[in-house]
Amino acid sequence: MKSFLSILFTILIMKAGAQSKVNYDESKVEPYTLPELLRSASGQEIKTVKEWESIRRPEIVRLFEEEVYGKIPAEAQLKPNIEILEKEGTALHGKAVRQQIALDFERNGRRLRVHLLVYLPAGQDNPPVFVGYNFYGNASIAEDENILLSPSWVPNKKEFGITENQITDGARGQRAHRWPVEKIIDSGFGLAAIYYGDVDPDRDDFSDGIHPLFYEEGQTKPGPSEWGAISAWAWGASRALDYLKSEPATANSKYILFGHSRLGKTSLWGGALDKRWDLVIANNSGCGGVAISRRKIGETVEVINTSFPHWFADRFQKYNDQESEMPVDQHMLVALIAPRPVYISSAVEDRWADPVGEYLGAYYASPAYQLYGLETPASDQQPSVSEPIHTSIGYHLRPGGHDVTDYDWEQFIAFSRKHLRK
Ligand code: GCU
Repeated sequence: MKSFLSILFTILIMKAGAQSKVNYDESKVEPYTLPELLRSASGQEIKTVKEWESIRRPEIVRLFEEEVYGKIPAEAQLKPNIEILEKEGTALHGKAVRQQIALDFERNGRRLRVHLLVYLPAGQDNPPVFVGYNFYGNASIAEDENILLSPSWVPNKKEFGITENQITDGARGQRAHRWPVEKIIDSGFGLAAIYYGDVDPDRDDFSDGIHPLFYEEGQTKPGPSEWGAISAWAWGASRALDYLKSEPATANSKYILFGHSRLGKTSLWGGALDKRWDLVIANNSGCGGVAISRRKIGETVEVINTSFPHWFADRFQKYNDQESEMPVDQHMLVALIAPRPVYISSAVEDRWADPVGEYLGAYYASPAYQLYGLETPASDQQPSVSEPIHTSIGYHLRPGGHDVTDYDWEQFIAFSRKHLRK
C-alpha cells in the first residue's frame, strides 16, 4: 500500500510539474521557426507536385513515423475474417439501414475483434460515408437498442454505468449529442462507427489491442520508433475502409475520416497514411493533432508525453520541452493530406488545444495545396467565431468548449458536399 501511495504521489508531482508550465498567454509565445514544408532534407526547393510526391512527402511521412507516431509494421496489412452480425437492420423508422460487422484479426495465436456499426440512407447506393471512432462504444453514439455492446476494455465512467471497465447498457446513447445520425442520414451521408478500444484500449499497456499480434518472440512492447496507439487507431480505420470498399453498398462511396480530440489526431495521421480517404476532418485535435507544437500554448509535447505516453512512439519523448529540435511541426501533417480536402475545427473555450495554433497548423499547410493549384485560406489571421472557411483547407472556430456540436456537423456536411461533388 505504502509503495502504491508513493508511486501515485510521484506521478501526481510529475504531472503537476508538467502542468504548471502550461501557458495560455499569446504574448509569451517565443519566436519560432517552422521547418520548411517545401524544402527537402538535402536542401532542394520543392516546386512541383511531382517533386512533392516523390521527394518531400515521403520524407515527411517517414519523419512522423520515426519521430512522432511510430511506424506501423509492414505485415499489418492483415486481412480479417469478416462476420456479418446484422445484415439489414431497420433504423430511424426506415430512413436508414443498419449493418453490424465484426472484423476478426488473427496472428501470433492472438485474436482481435473490431466491431463496425454502419448506418446508410435507405435506398441510396454508395452514399459518401463518414467514418469515425468513438470513446465509449458504438452503442454510445445513438439511441438505438439494437447496437451490440463491445466487450473491449473501456475506462470507467460512472455516469455511463461503466464501473468495471466494461461497456454496459448504461452507456447507450450517452454520446448521441456528438453523433447526429438522423441529420447525417437526412443529408444523404452514411456513417460508420468504431469503438477505438476495440483496436487498442486507451491505456499505457501494450499487452492488449492490436500491437501484440505483431510482436517477435519475447517482445512486450513496440520498439522506440514503432507504432503507439494513435498509429494503431489510424491502422484500424484503414481496415474499416478495406471492409467498406469490399461491400457493394459502399464500394464506390467517398470516404470521410472524422475524429474528435485524440481521435482527431488519429484522423489526421490516418488520412496522411492512407490516400484512399477522400476527405479528412479533425475536430479540437490540439497538441499532436493540428496545433503548432512550437507555440507551446495549452498542452505541450512534454505534457502530452507525460499523461499519454502510449499514444506516440517512445522516440517522441526526446522532444519534451525541445520542440525547436523537432524535424517536423503539425502543419506538415496537414500538408500530407493534400490535395484531398481537409477540415479543421476549433472551439473558443478549448484553450488546452490552442485554437490559434490549430488555425496556424492548417494555414501553414497551404503551400502543399497550392502546388496542386487549390484554393487555401487567405490570411494567417484566425477567422472570427462562426465564420467558417470552406477552401480546400477548411476551418471554423465556434463558441463553447471541447466537444462535437450540431454546428460542427453542419459545417462538416456542407464542406463535404462542396468538395466531394463530382
Ligand atoms: C486530453 C488530452 C488531449 C486530448 C483530449 C481528448 O485533454 O490532453 O490531447 O485531445 O484529452 O482526447 O479528449
